[in-house]
Amino acid sequence: MQATRSSAPAKVILFGEHFVVEGQPAIAAAISLRAHVTVEPADTDGILVYSKNLGLLEEYRFAERGAWSGKMLSIAIAAYTAMESLGRKSGVKVTVDSEIPPGSGMGSSAAVAVATTHATFRAFGEEPDLKEVSRIAFEAEKVVHGKPSGIDNTVATYGGVIAYRKGEGFIPLKAELNGVRLVLADSGVPRNTGEMVKRVLELKNTYPSVLEPLYHAAGRLVVEAARRLEEGDYESLGRLMNVNHGFLSAIGVSTLELEKLVYTARRAGALGSKLTGAGGGGFIVALVTAEKEKEVVEALRQLSPRIFSVEISSEGVRKE
Ligand code: PMV
Repeated sequence: MQATRSSAPAKVILFGEHFVVEGQPAIAAAISLRAHVTVEPADTDGILVYSKNLGLLEEYRFAERGAWSGKMLSIAIAAYTAMESLGRKSGVKVTVDSEIPPGSGMGSSAAVAVATTHATFRAFGEEPDLKEVSRIAFEAEKVVHGKPSGIDNTVATYGGVIAYRKGEGFIPLKAELNGVRLVLADSGVPRNTGEMVKRVLELKNTYPSVLEPLYHAAGRLVVEAARRLEEGDYESLGRLMNVNHGFLSAIGVSTLELEKLVYTARRAGALGSKLTGAGGGGFIVALVTAEKEKEVVEALRQLSPRIFSVEISSEGVRKE
């Protein structure tokens, strides 16, 4: 066994969140924020998990497998399941060092699980099979997050831009954002995905005749956006992001803080902007040209405690 290091990217939902829950398509992209994981042999009869970000060390003993609990349980499960699938088990230390803000909807836990699985396979001298890496990360996510959609582990494994629809799987899009960036700005308000999804479904079930046409329109929007993405038509993409934000406001997941960020980005010259993910708090995403990036970031800085200016990353999980 040897020490290995792997990394995997964060994701951002570009189009279709919430509507995807009821069968419409959505688009997500890997971005240039990554989770880095080192796996190395350790003198323990289990898995030591150390987070540099949290300054936290936990031990998961093999003998107590049935009773594991802890803040970093999904990481231990990813490493354990990778070892189980290899039929080899020995004491390891997993060290996590992540650039991805946790609890932000950027898929931080999935990126860590993917990088952990990948590094564990490599530590035992095995070339990781990406399908297996994604599957194991998904299993680890399930233990902690209940019912993940599978998009976070897929994007973290394969990278790039992905269109997906519930029950139908994932289609990679041939999209590279050349000369444009994504600016992500935090509203500073924490979010709760489960709560927001519940609220939206309640609205839809109360007024189905009103909401169904909107869901249909949101699906059409994603199809149009996928086409424009592949054509590199950034102006249209920005406009479609604005329309998508309007739909998300209509179903009640925007907030005053998110609206301020969205409109500030547009006023400062973004091609388009919208809330991203579950809403109720969390982040907005703005599409900006390289020329306007500074202006948009400066304007958002007045309102947001945390801003990331990122690129779409074609690279998924990789060795380091
Ligand atoms: O904010 P996130 O990444 O947890 O996004 C949630 C996306 C939803 O469409 C609202 C829920 C889902 O499971 O797709």
